Amino acid sequence: MANFDRAADSPILARGIQPYIAIHSSPPEELLVDLAEETRRTFRDVARMQIGTELGTLLTMLTASTGARRAIEVGTFTGYSSVCIARGLPADGQLLCCDVNEDWTSLAREYWKRAGLDGRIELRLGPAATTIAALPAEPSYDIAFIDADKTSYQTYFDLLVPRMRVGGLIVADNVLQGGDVVDAASQEVNVRAIRAFNQAVVADNRIQAVLLAVSDGLTIARKL
Ligand SMILES: C[S@@+](CC[C@H](N)C(=O)[O-])C[C@H]1O[C@@H](n2cnc3c(N)ncnc32)[C@H](O)[C@@H]1O
Repeated sequence: MANFDRAADSPILARGIQPYIAIHSSPPEELLVDLAEETRRTFRDVARMQIGTELGTLLTMLTASTGARRAIEVGTFTGYSSVCIARGLPADGQLLCCDVNEDWTSLAREYWKRAGLDGRIELRLGPAATTIAALPAEPSYDIAFIDADKTSYQTYFDLLVPRMRVGGLIVADNVLQGGDVVDAASQEVNVRAIRAFNQAVVADNRIQAVLLAVSDGLTIARKL
């Protein structure tokens, strides 16, 4: 299940539903279409790590409709989700992006510039847990998006919760792992980590959470 094309296909939806969703959702801006194409052309197989268009639109809507001013992203890749989040911020809003890969994020930097969003986005290269742990442990972020190494989701979540404002949202992608979370035979390391993460989130009384069947599964947790 790990090799489906996340950008085009949802492995958890019946056949034909994904295209139907796509044509009944607002289309992405041209710049995002270009970014998706250039990512596929340049990075080939790993391009499947990019989020899908409907999740991108949802991220813009969540950011804008909650009035978020400060955002943080864990896992930037070539920048699709970061452009979507930054688009939802006001002109003086800020997005902090965490990633380890200079190559992939250099394409993100190009697109931030092209989108006129480079003034709103800062990239910190290095392990995200180190980057977040170095931030003041004060509630200052309004929205966070987790989309990096699956075995560290719990670490990211625990580092982020104290840094989120009350009412702030932590959004975590790939929490259904292509449906493998409900397949007891699947003991793959990412699947086990995400199962444990999902269990911990629902038992966490610092937040209210909903797990949505969007894309590869999306948890939205609101800090109480
Ligand atoms: C699934 S991709 C992110 C996709 C991105 N959100 C998008 O919309 O295209 C995962 C990213 O997490 C990054 N990553 C993996 N381990 C990391 C770590 N320990 N700290 C920071 N970033 C990490 C990878 O370099 C990769 O760019």
